[in-house]
Amino acid sequence: MASPRGEFTSRFGFVMAAAGSAVGLGNIWGFPTQAASNGGAAFLLVYLALAFSLAYPALMAELILGRHAHANAVNALRLISPAGLLRRLGVTTGVVGLIVASLILSFYAIVAGWMIAFCLAALASLVGMESLAQWLTSFGFARNVSFMLLFMVLTISIISEGVRAGIERWSERLMPAMLITLVALVGYVLTLDGASDGLKVYLLPDFERALSPKLIIAALGAAFFSLSLGVGTMLIYGSYISDRENLPLLGGMVTLVDISIAVLAGFLVLPAMYVAHHNGVQIFTETGTLISEDTLIFTVLPELFSTMGIAGVVVSFTFFFLMSIAALTSSISMLEVPVAYTIEEHGVSRKKAVWVIGGIIAATSTVILLNFAELFGLVIAFTTRYSQPLLGFMFCIYAGWIFNRNTLLQELRKGNPDVEQGLFWKIWPWYVRLVCPLIILAIFAQTLLG
Ligand code: PHE
Repeated sequence: MASPRGEFTSRFGFVMAAAGSAVGLGNIWGFPTQAASNGGAAFLLVYLALAFSLAYPALMAELILGRHAHANAVNALRLISPAGLLRRLGVTTGVVGLIVASLILSFYAIVAGWMIAFCLAALASLVGMESLAQWLTSFGFARNVSFMLLFMVLTISIISEGVRAGIERWSERLMPAMLITLVALVGYVLTLDGASDGLKVYLLPDFERALSPKLIIAALGAAFFSLSLGVGTMLIYGSYISDRENLPLLGGMVTLVDISIAVLAGFLVLPAMYVAHHNGVQIFTETGTLISEDTLIFTVLPELFSTMGIAGVVVSFTFFFLMSIAALTSSISMLEVPVAYTIEEHGVSRKKAVWVIGGIIAATSTVILLNFAELFGLVIAFTTRYSQPLLGFMFCIYAGWIFNRNTLLQELRKGNPDVEQGLFWKIWPWYVRLVCPLIILAIFAQTLLG
């Protein structure tokens, strides 16, 4: 089927773009912070288990539905459902997904704005403008709102260029640079005093903690957030993949890249916390809990960079620059969700859709900033902890029960004629039908009862 829609031009391009969506603040800010406040290794363990056993199959559900329908999530779910209640429920799921994607972007843009501010702060101190650097790194409404807006404008400008020019080109170049920087920083932090305490916390699990409902639901949210699941992002990216590609393989590559980067970031952030603690920075309260989760990395990483002398300023610039870019390759994938829907459903031009929706999201971010203490954590918990897994549950149900098995097989055969002989076909269809929904339900039941 010749599609008038954008398509990724190469396999590398898709993997980089989907990995670009997956890898972002979730990996470097979300996962390590959660790991730090949930007992380190216990969290790592549960996160890894859930990422492979749940998030990967759920990612495949979205990719397959997306490529099959060549449409946004709402239309994809509508297309595969029989008329009636199931179709209405599918459409509702898609619409809720695009609202959640927009809400995620509204807090994401705030944190991404901090990344840009810290990046510019490094530049400012390089040229001796210390008071500017001070302003850029202090928590204040004016700084927060300016950089949130800047980040939104960047996201909007890229998305208005469309898939190929906008998304693919950026992701291909910057993802590898980020990986190299991260590895180098991990190598460096591990040589410092105090780092080994962080390593211990990260690697020696307290198995009792691993069973706590609070930890499990946090890890579930982290896995779904980190792989961009439940909101239709991956479904849309799937809709831009060419029919020649082998989906389970591509999905596996994206999962591996994403999880590896999160785990790697843990090797940076947890040791850096203990290095900062060793250097007298206050990281923990008297009862041993973290001082502030949201801004943890903005305390401990600058402290780490300050141990490097003048080189630290350059490293700080590079790190926060790459983080801003990583956030951008994720934010564009969030904004694409409501935008693709509006264009395809209402025939609005891409430019107009992007600016109107982007404007609404920036307004929401401003409201969050005005009520930071009440709203910031609430929006994060509502979207990532509850909405993403529950929407992921719906995608698994639709891919497992509603999507016709023969059509599914045909879809998979396109990029892999021998798919029936492979393990994926033997396991995944029933797994996504039964096991995934049951695990998600069990985790929610445990949280409600626990
Ligand atoms: N996966 C992204 C990250 O880790 C966040 C994201 C969530 C992107 C949902 C798109 C949709 O930063």
